[in-house]
Amino acid sequence: MKQLDELEEMIELSKRRGFFWPSFSIYGGSAGFNDYAPLGSILKNRIYEEWKRAFTVIGGIEIDSPNITPERVLKASGHVDKFIDMAVACSKCKTRYKLENIISAPGSSRIPETLKEADEMVRKGHFKCEKCGNELTNPYEFHLMFQTQASDETFYLRPETAQGIFVNFKLLLNYNRGKMPMVVYQQGKGFRNEISPRQGIIRQKEFNMAEAEVFLPESGDDNFIPDSNEKLILHDMNGVDHNISISEAVKNHVVGSNNHGFFMQLIYNFVTRIGVDKKRLRFRQHRKDELAHYSKECWDLEVNLNGSWLEIVGIADRGTYDLSRHIRESGENLYYEGEKIARVIEPAAGMDRIIAALLVSNMKRRENTYSYMSFPPEISPYRVAVLPLQKKDGLLEKARELFEALREIEPYTVFDESGAIGRRYARQDEIGTPYCITVDYETLERDIVTIRERNTTKQIKNVRIESILNFPLFLKNPILKEFQN
Ligand code: GLY
Repeated sequence: MKQLDELEEMIELSKRRGFFWPSFSIYGGSAGFNDYAPLGSILKNRIYEEWKRAFTVIGGIEIDSPNITPERVLKASGHVDKFIDMAVACSKCKTRYKLENIISAPGSSRIPETLKEADEMVRKGHFKCEKCGNELTNPYEFHLMFQTQASDETFYLRPETAQGIFVNFKLLLNYNRGKMPMVVYQQGKGFRNEISPRQGIIRQKEFNMAEAEVFLPESGDDNFIPDSNEKLILHDMNGVDHNISISEAVKNHVVGSNNHGFFMQLIYNFVTRIGVDKKRLRFRQHRKDELAHYSKECWDLEVNLNGSWLEIVGIADRGTYDLSRHIRESGENLYYEGEKIARVIEPAAGMDRIIAALLVSNMKRRENTYSYMSFPPEISPYRVAVLPLQKKDGLLEKARELFEALREIEPYTVFDESGAIGRRYARQDEIGTPYCITVDYETLERDIVTIRERNTTKQIKNVRIESILNFPLFLKNPILKEFQN
């Protein structure tokens, strides 16, 4: 049997266990679209909650704007004219490639600016089709946005949630009682005409985003200051790796400003807190030729999957680009304090990629036995399972009674009565449930249960039911500290 690589294994287990699967499969599917299955839907919601928390604790406010955006907005933002990529199609088997992916092959890394330059690069590079080996020729441009019409008006499916925030700047500032800096975040769908969708939820045409626009006063750099001493890898635009803290990186001018550094740190903390493996992460600075049309400086948080680096969050300095454009094109007053234009730092996360990184980081295998998902308990889709040791002698009823009571406190509780107890532990381990409560004869006699922890498989016996039910948040129960000893 073919050995699966870690991405293939993650995609296969996601389908089998119900994290995500390809959409529209009864009609043969359509590349670039996936459904979050029941477990994945819970996981995604939990991660969004953590994202919101990270911005709310620094005073952020939320907005939720439409997916469908009038052309005028995206013309002003520059997307209609500039959100274009170059591609190459194999003349023999018709496989299409993003030019950027082909020329990132060893020996060539610059992204061409014109079609003429691209043509020359492709001819010199003698790049071969991965599928049939035919030499690739004739690059062409394609638009990354999906267009649609309604009542003679042209719209696009939004390529980023950010514009929904910029166009509301005046209303948001008013809501915020004119206070600057102002942090506004938004989660939702983004759409891009991805030329070669693949790898499950990693390259899709419709994806889940989470973005924050941090509006800063027009001058100064003391609004947000990074203060962690943790050393990280920062791969700069010249290809040099710096193993330094973000505070040091700002002092050494590797990162352009404190404000930018602070949000790189916030994102790193968020991603590692939800359980992405620190050892897989680095920041990479965009080269000048790959910066988006609105960006002055950008650092991607990248994760190493299968030995390759993949962007999961971009933290860009958008300067005054967007507000200036919308002021000019709409004629509206999007200034603050008279004639001042706010500068913007934008952390923009690809939530699906974060989920892929989380799944790969937490796929664990016990020696000679089944695998388990080692999610942090706060993130695990189900947080607790109730298992009667036997179905007879009133144990089933007693366990169900506990389950019903517990479910009132923690709705994401599982009840599983079928099969041997070892098999039931294994089923919970496979979906990442951190704690199993076993109801046995002692429960009938003395109202005590056994709690088993997923990663260590350690058990705490003689836990009084009362002490579980008295804690509104089961996860914070001090009893669970015993698992750390
Ligand atoms: N707003 C960032 C992005 O579109 O990637």
